Amino acid sequence: MGRNLARNIARHGYVTAVHNRTDAKTKALIEEFGHEGTFVPGYSAQEFVDSLSSPRTIVIMVKAGGPTDAVIDELAPLLSEGDILVDGGNAHFADTRRREAALRERGVHFAGVGVSGGEEGALLGPSIMLGGSEHAYATLGPILEDIAVSVDGTPCAVHVGPDGAGHFVKMVHNGIEYADMQLIAEAYDLLRHGLGRTPAQLAAVFESWNSGDLESFLIEITARVLHKEDPTQAGVPLVDVILDEAEQKGTGRWTVQTALDLGTPVSGIAEAVFARALSGHAEQRRAAQGVLPGPGGGIGQDRSEGAEGAGGFVEAADADAFVDDVRAALYASKVVAYAQGFDMIKAGSAEYGWGIDPGAMATIWRGGCIIRAKFLDRIKDAYAQQPDLPSLLLDPYFADAVATGQEAWRRVVAHSVQAGIPAPGFSSALAYYDGLRRERSSAALIQGLRDLFGAHTYKRVDREGNFHVEWSGDGSETRG
Ligand code: 6PG
Repeated sequence: MGRNLARNIARHGYVTAVHNRTDAKTKALIEEFGHEGTFVPGYSAQEFVDSLSSPRTIVIMVKAGGPTDAVIDELAPLLSEGDILVDGGNAHFADTRRREAALRERGVHFAGVGVSGGEEGALLGPSIMLGGSEHAYATLGPILEDIAVSVDGTPCAVHVGPDGAGHFVKMVHNGIEYADMQLIAEAYDLLRHGLGRTPAQLAAVFESWNSGDLESFLIEITARVLHKEDPTQAGVPLVDVILDEAEQKGTGRWTVQTALDLGTPVSGIAEAVFARALSGHAEQRRAAQGVLPGPGGGIGQDRSEGAEGAGGFVEAADADAFVDDVRAALYASKVVAYAQGFDMIKAGSAEYGWGIDPGAMATIWRGGCIIRAKFLDRIKDAYAQQPDLPSLLLDPYFADAVATGQEAWRRVVAHSVQAGIPAPGFSSALAYYDGLRRERSSAALIQGLRDLFGAHTYKRVDREGNFHVEWSGDGSETRG
């Protein structure tokens, strides 16, 4: 990723000093790609720093956590007041806030930059989210806007806000990515193992969805993965030979942990993180297989390929209608996941005083990043029309889209339950949607229970204040 970002910068005409702790990697970059631009190799940290004129701008791209601290500790003593040090890795925003404060003491501008788009994006045009000082963005912003992808002439690079703001929104981007991928996987699962469609048939379905409201990078590459045959055995779908245990580097997990602290429901992202975790509990899953019965008491596997209509899941005559129901459910659940993600961005911005513009996030996520999609244009429009939108779900366009699809959404969740096919993303999104729109929630009973066993008091609908019932006394109500 770091090599490709350096190539991207050099290709745009900037003299680019490069340093890797492994000399061979620095040499290889110059040998293989030296023709793409002007690279200045540095074979030690000192040589690298000395090759830069002051005020220096240095971008580090290393693994989050300890390795990043190690590189900062190595470079910091070599830097001067006014220099800019950028961490382009997937650092936790709290680490970035700590590093920014420490380096600010030395007069060094530290910026945490979220770079999304993977290896290819880093080279051809990522989406870039800078958190740091105005000075850092004034200096580095023009370069970032040069190397980022542009959509409708607008670079997908922005100054998100101070200190950890950039890494915070990158973390939320990754959390939304997890939720998006989980929903796609559930749509695939329902149509594959509930309807008996083959991967090749489903590749065509996702391709068709990619020309409508669901158009996105993730939908596009889903079709590619489902089309792909095992390179080592012709005729076998690759998806059938991949071990079904999802891994995660951690940004989705961080998103959920942070949301819990902020008190912001991100159930779609949480279900995606937990679904990945469950998929990795191989021993526990094996112990359950053949023991825990499914619908009708059967303990066998799902419907086999092509057995459409069998097993009472969805009759063949209704199959195409069900495919469209799943499309509607996927779109509605995606709206919920993004609504929750943007709620979290607003909550984090309020908590840390970052002043993040959610519309600007939608704007720079329209291209370059993993969640890039036509959908982000709609979110950009929603916040342009109403910057203080209480929830994306209440934007007229999204409210209408979800209202139109909600009956299909409910049918899909019901079918998934009847078929014994887990759809935690679809069902939790629907539960959130119903929880959001309910006039009276069951939390009233929870407050009563808390007051009885813990005297935690409750509020009333008809008067101000906190109240408590003397449950073990005369049962009267007192002010808490
Ligand atoms: C991006 C991606 C990237 C992410 C990897 C792996 O924006 O380019 O989100 O930052 O780290 O895709 O993420 P997981 O291992 O957590 O799935």
